[in-house]
Amino acid sequence: MGTKVKIGIIGGSGLSKPDILKGGQEKEVNTPFGKPSDVLICGEIEGVPCVLLSRHGRGHTIMPTNVNFRANIWAMKEMGCTHLLVTTACGSLQEGIHPGDVVVIDQFIDRTQKRIQTFFDGAPLSPLGICHMSMADPFCSRTSKMLYESGKNLGLSIRETGTMLTIEGPRFSSRAESKLWNSWGAHCINMTTVPEVILAKEVGLCYASMALVTDYDSWREGEEGVNVENVMKIFKQNSSNALKILLDVIPKIAKEDWTKTLEDYKNAVTMNTLLPHS
Ligand code: ADE
Repeated sequence: MGTKVKIGIIGGSGLSKPDILKGGQEKEVNTPFGKPSDVLICGEIEGVPCVLLSRHGRGHTIMPTNVNFRANIWAMKEMGCTHLLVTTACGSLQEGIHPGDVVVIDQFIDRTQKRIQTFFDGAPLSPLGICHMSMADPFCSRTSKMLYESGKNLGLSIRETGTMLTIEGPRFSSRAESKLWNSWGAHCINMTTVPEVILAKEVGLCYASMALVTDYDSWREGEEGVNVENVMKIFKQNSSNALKILLDVIPKIAKEDWTKTLEDYKNAVTMNTLLPHS
């Protein structure tokens, strides 16, 4: 018998409703890094134990810079999660990627400026050492592939890979910035993938992200740039696609043996951590 899986879900507005979990119980937690964005909701999807967290709080009150990413990830790990399946609204940076599409992200470009990207910060309650985590492959390719296969089988418009460019926000990009990101070849733009995926890797979680495309950012000539009204309208529609994928993929994930994958991720953390020596 392999490791028992527990699925953490970090979602945006449309995915923070507890009714997607059966028997959902609210749990208030604290961590050495402070409080997560909201209560954790513990329950089941298709008989598989799951924990749901709203990244910006259920009332959407926490702006990207102020999301306590470390507390969110630490709390999920402490709850015993093996996997983190997350959704994020994003803009398209390339022709061929349209509002309503789902992109399974496999790379990122970091344009954030104010975020702590490690648990290994030398504080008394933090893990010991300094961690230089490899970011060559930031996401769990095995979990990501399963998300993609589910989306494809459900007939959704879904891309297997994509590079997410994460900006600090809360403002959107200028037209000049947006054209630059487009010329760099990034596929999507958001405000939260960094440092979330980095921190998940530091605690050895299988992390995969469904990016829900809401807009074309501001790189297209002669078109209105991105605005909140459009993002929220499309995001609410897109969230039901993400929910369909989650309901389909979670039982499939639970049927597989993740022991070796989780062991590999744990070893990667140990191998990349320098412990103090005299
Ligand atoms: N989230 C949704 N659309 C976005 C955009 N165009 N830029 C940054 N974050 C986003």
